[in-house]
Amino acid sequence: MKSIIPVPLPRQPYEVMVATDGIDHLGTWLVGGETPLVKPGQKLLLVSNPAIFKHYGDRVVAALSQVGYAVETCLLPAGERYKTLKSIQKIYAAALAFHLERKSAMVALGGGVIGDMTGFAAATWLRGISVVQVPTSLLAMVDASIGGKTGVNHPQGKNLIGAFHQPRLVVIDPLVLKTLPAREFRAGMAEVIKYGVIWDKQLFAMLEAAPRLDQYRYVSDELLHAILTRSCQAKADVVSQDEKEAGLRAILNYGHTIGHAVESLMHYRGVNHGEAVAIGMVAAGAIAVRLNLWDQSLAARQLALLQKTSLPTQIPAGLALDDLLRALLSDKKVEAGRVNFILPESLGRVRLTDAVSDDVLRSVLMTMQATV
Ligand code: GLY
Repeated sequence: MKSIIPVPLPRQPYEVMVATDGIDHLGTWLVGGETPLVKPGQKLLLVSNPAIFKHYGDRVVAALSQVGYAVETCLLPAGERYKTLKSIQKIYAAALAFHLERKSAMVALGGGVIGDMTGFAAATWLRGISVVQVPTSLLAMVDASIGGKTGVNHPQGKNLIGAFHQPRLVVIDPLVLKTLPAREFRAGMAEVIKYGVIWDKQLFAMLEAAPRLDQYRYVSDELLHAILTRSCQAKADVVSQDEKEAGLRAILNYGHTIGHAVESLMHYRGVNHGEAVAIGMVAAGAIAVRLNLWDQSLAARQLALLQKTSLPTQIPAGLALDDLLRALLSDKKVEAGRVNFILPESLGRVRLTDAVSDDVLRSVLMTMQATV
């Protein structure tokens, strides 16, 4: 199975390839076409982490070398805590040692951390060289690899340092998900369900019809292909209408307002990004019902889908309501003292609003506290 999703950005359009065994074709796609995306014979710096590289590194290096690229590798330790300027320095050191030039490129093979860091290093090395994204986690496939947001964390906050830098090509090989831990698969599914609510009601219906969504092995090849292509299409649609987040792109933050607050209060431990977003979606849905924007039955369907995916839908025990409310007010989406929310209006449509009173917020969050 192979699908091509165009991302029609005016300055630099590119394609997302969703293809079984796609990583073996990476080189052919980079040199192929009328104008090669990266010139044959050029240098490519492959950035990955040891665990991912162990699984897929040889195949990717072979796919790139056999069409004539000179490939060097830079391995970085895995994990969000290494998403720092220090790791970027390591990529620069490799770029220097390997004499990367303006026409060379970097290839990111990994999850969101590797993708964001490689993208940022490519955005800044020699004032910007090409980057190719080869995401290996479901979250990175459907979100981080598309749209050009790159960067690293600052000790004071996530993704505070960054740049927009669109990739030349994104290659998604569904088969690499077989080595992804189940919990990370579910975290990616939270973002997939998000696309169903904010953009694509057919995707939502497909997910509802699936017997199980909690593990890769229970999802058929056909459904997984549809999940990936429809999610990437949703992201491509939104990003191509609003590349730099002047408006529409903010809808991708559905579930993220409360999600980010939960994640940061838990110090990014015990709850991962997708799980936090799932909790945030339940909260946003309940707020929308309270404001008569959304039907209760739709909120119940969203909840059922998240539960079918074994994602958390309650505020974790031990997280105090007052702390959560305080954190929400300091979220970066706060403008003029009001919290911005993305709220659903139907299936496949959301709106941005700051008209959520503290009382509504508090009473919805109270109903979502875990009973211990
Ligand atoms: N992950 C949100 C965005 O790309 O805008």
